Amino acid sequence: MENIKSYLALVVFLLFGITNLANAQEMTHKVPMLKLNNGIEMPQFGLGTFTASVEDCKAACLVALKNGYRHIDTAHAYRNETGVGAAVKESGIPREEIWITSKLWPSEYGEGTTLEAIDKMLARLQTTYIDLLYVHQPVGDFVGAWKDMEKAVAAGKVRTLGISNFDDSDEVFHAIVDNMKVKPAVMQIECHPYAQRNDVREKVKPYGIAIECWYPLGHGDKGLLSDPVIAKIAEAHNKSIVQIILRWHIQEGLSVIPGATNPDYIKENINIFDFQLSNAEMAAMRSLNKNKRFFNMTLEQKQGFVNFKMND
Ligand SMILES: NC(=O)c1ccc[n+]([C@@H]2O[C@H](COP(=O)([O-])OP(=O)(O)OC[C@H]3O[C@@H](n4cnc5c(N)ncnc54)[C@H](OP(=O)(O)O)[C@@H]3O)[C@@H](O)[C@H]2O)c1
Repeated sequence: MENIKSYLALVVFLLFGITNLANAQEMTHKVPMLKLNNGIEMPQFGLGTFTASVEDCKAACLVALKNGYRHIDTAHAYRNETGVGAAVKESGIPREEIWITSKLWPSEYGEGTTLEAIDKMLARLQTTYIDLLYVHQPVGDFVGAWKDMEKAVAAGKVRTLGISNFDDSDEVFHAIVDNMKVKPAVMQIECHPYAQRNDVREKVKPYGIAIECWYPLGHGDKGLLSDPVIAKIAEAHNKSIVQIILRWHIQEGLSVIPGATNPDYIKENINIFDFQLSNAEMAAMRSLNKNKRFFNMTLEQKQGFVNFKMND
């Protein structure tokens, strides 16, 4: 009798595991791929890791990967790249099935310096290549950094180059877009229903640059996450406000990387591919734009980043 009970428990356990795996695989396949201007395809949706410690980041990435995520966004400045690398290894998922994004910090910009910084980044991430590498901030010698990033692409260490926060001025944007050999394929900016950034989105269109949104949830802003217009749409679809916000990003054609460490949030956030916002609902979401940014730092203030050294 005991043997039969143990046998049944094992069967239930295995079935549960197989069902979870099948659900995660189904979720992975539901995430649309964005074709970039270099022909490479990037999962449109991913996990953000800003502010997570190494341990929390590793745990969050493992939950995410188990639940179908295949795109993780980190940066040297977040000091948690080792957590991403450890989770990718531990997940057992083949490296080539996961999109890893990271960002170089201004103190490591410069021809010669940046190539070395990329090798150190690869070591922290425990990988031989990075899918998308950004210059994190448009200050310091980002042109010199870009020249080394181009060399890293040629050497197979990086697949795609991106500019992060290059919405700060026309000058920095054009310094890269007009003059460099390898063109940026993605630009990462703050973008959410309260700051929809239509001007920037128009500006990048002629270059085929995809927009990837940071602070998609206003960094957890209570006002945005309880907005009555979004709440009404959420009720109609039996979804949460957060899910409606993320679905709006997807239907706008934006890449989106919500940050979360809470396992329930991580599971909730990817569960946005089984419904559609109608044209009227998209219009209602667009009407919420009020150019309200949650992170306000001028380019002048950012100059100090150059002297702010990151540990290896
Ligand atoms: N390029 C740049 O300069 C730049 C700047 C900022 C961010 N980023 C990237 O963009 C990513 C996203 O930005 P972010 O993480 O700062 O802000 P965010 O995604 O707008 O918001 C994250 C916050 O929302 C909470 N949250 C997540 N899912 C939720 C849910 N379903 N219900 C309720 N609350 C929820 C999180 O809580 P918990 O943490 O408690 O789970 C966290 O407090 C970052 O993680 C980072 O990878 C890039």
